[in-house]
Parts: sequence; C-alpha cells; structure tokens
Amino acid sequence: MHPGAASSPEPSGPARILVLGGGAREHALVWSLAREAAVEAVLAAPGSDAIGDEPKVRCFPNVSATDAAAVVELATRENVDLVVVGPEAVLAAGVVDALTDAGVPAFGPTKAAAQIESSKAYCRSVAEAAGVRVARGGAFSALEPALSFARELTDAPGSSGVVIKADGLMAGKGVTVCDDYATAEAALRALAGGAAAGGPWVVVEERLMGVEASLIALCDDHGAIALPPARDHKRLLDGDKGPNTGGMGAYSPVPDLPESLCATLVDVIHLPILAELARRGNPFRGALYAGLMLTPEGPVLLECNARFGDPEIQALLPRLAVPLGPLLYGAAQGDLAGAAAALQLNGRMLPTTDDAAVAIVLAAANYPETPRKGDVISGLEEAAVTGATVFHAGTVRGPDGQFRTAGGRVMSVVGLGRTIESARANAERAATAIAWDGMQRRHDIAAVLPPVGAGARPGASPDPVSESAWTRGGAA
Ligand code: AMP
Ligand code: GLY
Repeated sequence: MHPGAASSPEPSGPARILVLGGGAREHALVWSLAREAAVEAVLAAPGSDAIGDEPKVRCFPNVSATDAAAVVELATRENVDLVVVGPEAVLAAGVVDALTDAGVPAFGPTKAAAQIESSKAYCRSVAEAAGVRVARGGAFSALEPALSFARELTDAPGSSGVVIKADGLMAGKGVTVCDDYATAEAALRALAGGAAAGGPWVVVEERLMGVEASLIALCDDHGAIALPPARDHKRLLDGDKGPNTGGMGAYSPVPDLPESLCATLVDVIHLPILAELARRGNPFRGALYAGLMLTPEGPVLLECNARFGDPEIQALLPRLAVPLGPLLYGAAQGDLAGAAAALQLNGRMLPTTDDAAVAIVLAAANYPETPRKGDVISGLEEAAVTGATVFHAGTVRGPDGQFRTAGGRVMSVVGLGRTIESARANAERAATAIAWDGMQRRHDIAAVLPPVGAGARPGASPDPVSESAWTRGGAA
C-alpha cells in the first residue's frame, strides 16, 4: 500500500492529491478537488501560475507531467494518496504504468488501455468486438484498399460523405470530414507517408449526420458511473464555421440527450468497452469519454478518449453534487463500486446540482495555427465580480503581476444558472469583461439548442455492427 494512504485521516478518500497537467481541465480538477473538506492538499505538476493561486494548492513547475520517473519521485516524496492524470500525452508516456509499479494509486488508464484514444483503429476494433454501434468503416494499412473503400462509401446510395482518421494521437487534427471522394482521396494521399510504418495507419468511416454530445464516465475495470452529458463546440467560429480546434466552449446538461438515455448509453457503450478491454488484458481505470453522434437512428459512437474532455469538464465539475476525490480514489484502486456505495450513489449517473453550466473558451490571436503569446490580459477582476469562474489554460503571470497569454486556448469562463440560458448569460457577462489583443472567442456557445428528441431516440440499443471492413483487405 502506498505510505500516504496509511496516514490518511479518512481512509475512504484521498487527503493529498497530485494532479498532472497545467491547462484549464486541470485547473478545474484542482479547483474542484481542493474544495472538498477531506482534501488537505492538492499538488499540481507542472500546474500553472493561476492553478497555484487556488487555496490548498502547490505547483511543481519544474516537474514535467510526461516524465514518469520525475512524477513517481514527486508522488512518493510528497506522500500523495492519489495521482489524477489530465492530458492524453501523460497516459501515452506510460506515467500511470510507472505509478502503478511504484504502488501509487493513479486515476487514468495504463498506456496499453489508453490506446482506446491513441489509436483510432484500436478504438474501432474494441468497439466492434464489444458490439457497440459505430459508423460503418474500417482500418487500413495501405493506400489502395483505403482509397477503394472510401470510393465504396461515397458511392453508396444516400452517402453524406466519408471521414478519414489518421491513426495515432494527432491533437485533434487527424480527422478530415469529406463531402466527396475527391476530398477523401486528397486526405488519404496527404497521410500516406504514415502507411510505411506497418500496422493500421488510417481509419475510413462513413460520415454520419446529426448533433454531437460527450458522455464521460468514471471507470474501473468493469464498472462505470457517468458524469452528466455535455456538448462541445469544436469549430473556431460562430455557426460551427472555421477550422477545428480543441474545443471553443461547452455546456451541460444537454436537453436533447436526457439523463435516462445516458444511463442506457453507459450500459451499451462504456460497460461493453470496459469488458472488452479487460478481456484483451488491458483493463481501464480512469475517465472513458464517449464522443457520440446523435443521429436520427439513435446515438452512434464516433470516438473514445481516455481522459476528461476539455472544455467539457470545466462545465461538468461545477455541476456535480458529490465529492470527486473518493470516486477517483476508488476507481484508481479497482473499487469504484465501493466508493459509490460509501457515498450512497445508485445507478449509472452521478447526481448533479440544479444548475446548468456554460463554458466559453477565450483563445489567443492566431489560434489554432500559430497562437501568439505575451498579450496582456485585462478584466479578470471584473469577470470575477460577476460570479463566473475562470479556469486558466495558457497564461503566465508577468513580473508586473499581470497575466499574459501563453498558449492557444487561454482560458475557459464558466457561468452557472438555473437554466442553460441564464448560465449562458452569466458566462457571456464575464467573458465580455475579459480582453487582450487579438482575443478570439465564439458568441454562440449554447445559444442554439437542438430540439429535444432530435437525435436521441432509443435506437441506442446496441445494433450489432452488421458490416464492417475491419477484417477486409488492408485491415490490421
Ligand atoms: P474523432 O476524433 O474521431 O472524434 O473526430 C473528431 C471529429 O470529427 C468529431 O468530433 C466529429 O465532428 C467528426 N467525426 C468523426 N467521425 C465522424 C463520422 N463518422 N461522421 C461524421 N463526423 C465525424
Ligand atoms: N473536447 C474534446 C476533447 O477533449 O477531446
């Protein structure tokens, strides 16, 4: 057992928690965990100047979150009870594996289980084997079979196009949604350099039409309990125009994805995927993020991430009506069910407050291509007065005490309210107070809500995947 656990004043919950990462997602996690009475201290590596301003929080800016040896050394030296991983790169670097070897409970999957995010081909393979409904598609290791499958999909009657997904972690830039074969061919040829590496190199999928939503569950090996659903806005500009980004804003709840349906989705998506991962010898402990397309025929899984969504989590954590620490700690030790029982939780969904939340991302000049650093940020005090919460993603405090931009997505401004409309008004009020040269943001986050029932018919039942190119020529 980890030494810190023995001295913990509350055996069921972690007293000292180390959060890895330094963006807005990690700021939100630190903020949420530090507010729990049983939590004595939250450490962050590397954290950020703004994260270090939170009460009970200490940052270790010289410890890289992807340096497994340095993280293990820090966690051991500081007697932390639990490590919580933010970014996918930390998972891919095997940091959870190293912590597990050292006997430190970590919330986040091993490198092998995190392939559910780091490899689109692995994700498809697992989802199909688990009987989870995915778009018709396949994984390919050579150009010609990929081209001919893209042709087959675009030639199919009623085709809306095709989606080309590079295998591997691409920081949200590996997916091309194509209206027609010519675009798909160009995307495949542009990626073709990677085909030489062997193994699956690209996933080709039918393009699905609908509205997207994210359903993130806390998981351990065989159990899952979901946070409320959220909806991200991935394009840079209002009206879902412009380039794809890491996410420009999010809201929760999602009226067109009722929580009763979410509980079913945990049964037909998260739990079968967990079982399949365990069957393959890669049990998953951490946050399993299901990216869904709500189609007229029901929800379909587009992607899995092995971590909390950003900016989704900024809109989700302020809505939770239970402490997160004991649940993450339970999941990290394979006892999520015990942790949930201790909190008297039943069912598949975490309880929430009556508030809705809207998160608006403020981004730097030239984001996403070449974000400019060093612009002085004004209006943070005015924003705080509105009651909104600001989670910093890419900022540094200058010698004059003023925050400056230091990344692409600079901060998330989160407003709460009894309705999505009032939460949005609160977030807008705070976001309007903040400014810097070249600041970019959307003004339509949560402004247009799809009609209830738009894509959430209980076609949610797990249609067996009837036809798949997974085993066809070219598939790994
Ligand atoms: P992924 O990383 O697989 O989620 O892809 C990123 C984005 O690409 C998703 O959020 C969707 O907007 C889009 N996308 C991915 N797969 C599909 C699909 N089969 N049909 C339509 N859009 C998709
Ligand atoms: N908001 C999308 C993601 O975290 O990948």
